[in-house]
Amino acid sequence: MYGMATTEGKSPGESSVETRYLVMPAQANPHGTAFGGSIVGWIDMTAAMAGQRHCGREVVTAGIDSLVFRQPIRIGDHVILKAAVNYVSRSSMEVGVQVIREDPYSAEQVLATTAHLTLVVLDENKKPITAPPLLPQTPEEKQRYENARQRVRERKERLKAVNEPERI
Ligand SMILES: CC(C)(COP(=O)(O)OP(=O)(O)OC[C@H]1O[C@@H](n2cnc3c(N)ncnc32)[C@H](O)[C@@H]1OP(=O)(O)O)[C@@H](O)C(=O)NCCC(=O)NCCS
Repeated sequence: MYGMATTEGKSPGESSVETRYLVMPAQANPHGTAFGGSIVGWIDMTAAMAGQRHCGREVVTAGIDSLVFRQPIRIGDHVILKAAVNYVSRSSMEVGVQVIREDPYSAEQVLATTAHLTLVVLDENKKPITAPPLLPQTPEEKQRYENARQRVRERKERLKAVNEPERI
């Protein structure tokens, strides 16, 4: 049985998060570019903030997929992370994150990493509850919602297969 987080829906724009970091040597790999694990940590944190803003509740990350490191990020680059809720299922929502690398001097921007995360909203007993509905407003938000709906369906099918004990 699922309780409700709140009944009030929000548009993706109302909960979206944009944040910025400077890549320091502590976040580098042995090749001198940003370590993937550091980037994933920032992705997870930014997605969680978008999920919290949408639900007004505690959220946890259930999964990360379609994580693609498209372009390397260098020490000293600025990193801009943009997270938005793409789709709400029941207790879970898909959050899309874009990581943009910005040259600190020329301000040139390149899309460096992208990912989709599934976050689940929890009640005070740490049990999943129904998330508030997502109300896409702009044509872009509506398109992202439709694209995510298809991915969520496929993801649930994949998970069903993975969770069959004989396949683990
Ligand atoms: C995520 C978690 C709360 C799900 O709990 P559960 O008992 O499996 O709950 P359910 O089976 O009812 O699933 C809840 C929702 O999560 C979705 N889900 C569960 N595991 C998933 C996964 N690996 N990937 C994507 N979605 C997942 C289900 O499809 C369901 O979605 P819906 O309610 O929108 O239909 C639980 O697995 C958990 O606590 N995992 C650890 C989370 C964590 O520690 N994250 C890292 C730190 S934030």
